[in-house]
Amino acid sequence: MTDIGFETDLFSPMQMGALQLANRIVMAPVTRSRMADDGVPNEMHATYYAQRASAGLIIAEATNISAQGRGYAMTPGIWSQEQVAGWKKVTDAVHAAGGKIVSQLWHVGRFSSVELQPNGDAPVAPSAIKAEGSTYTEKGFVEVSMPRALETSEIPGIIEQYKLAAENAKRAGFDGVEVHSANSYLLDQFLRDSTNQRTDQYGGSIENRARLTLEVTEAVVSIWGNERVGIRLSPVTPDAGNTPPDSNVMATYGYLIQQLNNFNLAYLHFVEGATATSRTVPDDVDLDALSAQFAGAFIGNNNYDLAMALERRAQGRIDAVAFGRLFISNPDLVERLRRGIELTIAPRESYYGGGAKGYIDWPTANA
Ligand SMILES: Cc1cc2nc3c(=O)[nH]c(=O)nc-3n(C[C@H](O)[C@H](O)[C@H](O)COP(=O)(O)O)c2cc1C
Repeated sequence: MTDIGFETDLFSPMQMGALQLANRIVMAPVTRSRMADDGVPNEMHATYYAQRASAGLIIAEATNISAQGRGYAMTPGIWSQEQVAGWKKVTDAVHAAGGKIVSQLWHVGRFSSVELQPNGDAPVAPSAIKAEGSTYTEKGFVEVSMPRALETSEIPGIIEQYKLAAENAKRAGFDGVEVHSANSYLLDQFLRDSTNQRTDQYGGSIENRARLTLEVTEAVVSIWGNERVGIRLSPVTPDAGNTPPDSNVMATYGYLIQQLNNFNLAYLHFVEGATATSRTVPDDVDLDALSAQFAGAFIGNNNYDLAMALERRAQGRIDAVAFGRLFISNPDLVERLRRGIELTIAPRESYYGGGAKGYIDWPTANA
């Protein structure tokens, strides 16, 4: 069958909740910053995703659930009818090519600028603690702004934003949704004691800090059913300002995962280590022990190559593997891995911004 030398089920179909995947190789969500200001996908984006439809599952790039949730220019949204219609082009193209695609629901929380917010408002966050770092706006790079702490009375409105986005994802023809609770964005900011200093029922104890992620998950499940909802966590990724991860990663994320088990979700998706950099974790953290607490399918990610995916699959540590950067420059990544064909490495300059170049012009091995 394959050139990899021994039997593996990495290239065989699998069931994740209600999602039937042609193989266990997932395209990780990868922001490409190639949208117009209105956040509406068009034919070019449909082509890009359709080219990658041989992945068992595509997790589309992080998608803003609301204008308030937006932290970077040129990223897609899913709150307007135009955006829904744009995404429908994408999902239709992926389905026509035989693929499956879910939408990653994104609210950046504090990682935004007044330049990007409606009416020039301050970004919202669990607490008024400023991130460090800069983000890209229509005016170029600017430092992120001082956020405003959400009132307790505003939290139902945040959950409603996720719910509307989940409904819109359904209208747009996605196969499901992934709750983006990773990479130090809004939900992760609530989870971590470094960014959450609230004294209401959404701050303080682990139970309180996990509450928003769980309530959002419940809201999204109410729209999609449990079998078409997954969730992404990055327990040790520092944020752009190097705010440390939670002071007790094992307890905080362990509690969250135990509670997530009550939903019987389609999958749990981890960034193992620091996102797109090192897989090293602090001495007191054991990510395999955390993911083993999850009762459903587990997708591993971060700096995998084929050998690592085969090994960790054979050890039973992952059910599927997600590749991010390799899918940028290898639209036929599954076929290349299966046949042992050399991979193309994308230069960083091609990651963000621009048009078709470095986006839909990566050749397949057969071309
Ligand atoms: C250009 C770029 C954009 C990314 N965009 C997202 C995103 O939209 N959502 C997300 O959860 N992670 C995002 N990530 C993280 C990737 O999903 C993935 O975790 C990371 O690249 C590590 O996987 P890899 O080693 O296979 O690339 C991004 C990473 C890169 C390099």
